[in-house]
Amino acid sequence: MNDISKNRLGLPNLGLGVGLRSQHYSYLLKNDPVVDWFEIISENYLDNWGYARHILEHIAALRPIVMHGVSMSIGSTDPLNLAYLAQLKELAELVNPVWISDHLCWTGVASINTHDLLPLPLTLESLKHVVARVNQVQDILKRPLVLENPSTYLEFEHSTLHEWEFLSELATQTGCGLLLDVNNVFVSATNHNFDPEFYIRNIPHNHVVQIHVAGPTDCGQILIDTHDQPVPTRVWQLYRLAQELTGGVSTLLEWDANIPEYPELVAEVLKAREVMKGYIPDVPVYQSQQAEVVSNPVDHQMKVTYE
Ligand SMILES: [Fe+2]
Repeated sequence: MNDISKNRLGLPNLGLGVGLRSQHYSYLLKNDPVVDWFEIISENYLDNWGYARHILEHIAALRPIVMHGVSMSIGSTDPLNLAYLAQLKELAELVNPVWISDHLCWTGVASINTHDLLPLPLTLESLKHVVARVNQVQDILKRPLVLENPSTYLEFEHSTLHEWEFLSELATQTGCGLLLDVNNVFVSATNHNFDPEFYIRNIPHNHVVQIHVAGPTDCGQILIDTHDQPVPTRVWQLYRLAQELTGGVSTLLEWDANIPEYPELVAEVLKAREVMKGYIPDVPVYQSQQAEVVSNPVDHQMKVTYE
């Protein structure tokens, strides 16, 4: 399944992967992982020397690992958290990740962590700010940082750049990689009324090292990035477009609530093979009638709970 082709950053196409989640630890100790690679939420393993670290070492001996963080707060005006970056480096020495990623966002200010991935004002001023911080992080980590486009629910009136323009400039100026979450593009495009295909066509494809797919929830006025459903048709269509434009990059299925049994999770990500042959699953976007939006303190993604 693996493709040895490499993008501009020299990072390989790892194939099809899933997120390593605690619900599947016992299964994975006894069974073949099947998928090509795993993505971990870095924060779940920092300063953790117990069972989770044991499982991680077990999996890292079997498959490539990518570290995906939610706390770097690259867009914040607080100084970068050097202690956090030191912890990331320490974990990286243990699991030897193929790359380290986080999100184009800020998570707090004045030392307050909101545990949410908050949108940035997209201006030349904020671009300059983020460019400097990405360069600083890359100097510390001694490797390119990979940044993911967030799902957003509001925009700043004083933004002067589109998100795809901001990410393009950021990648060009810093040499960082991009994690293209096509579900997030779909969510933000629906919430802010732009064309998701135009977005995907206008990012620098040779900087894209990874794609996320996931299932959102239609809450009426907005789509929410819930990661609790099968991937809908529209997201698979955007996935196929992105793979054609990038030439094929590592694919990861995100599923963070209502997590299915491991074989079902694997079956969902393996649909990507059929999608690339032109067989797009007929799956509508899940519609919620009664939903309460809350913030998930575990994976820091927005989610929906049901009464
Ligand atoms: Fe994502």
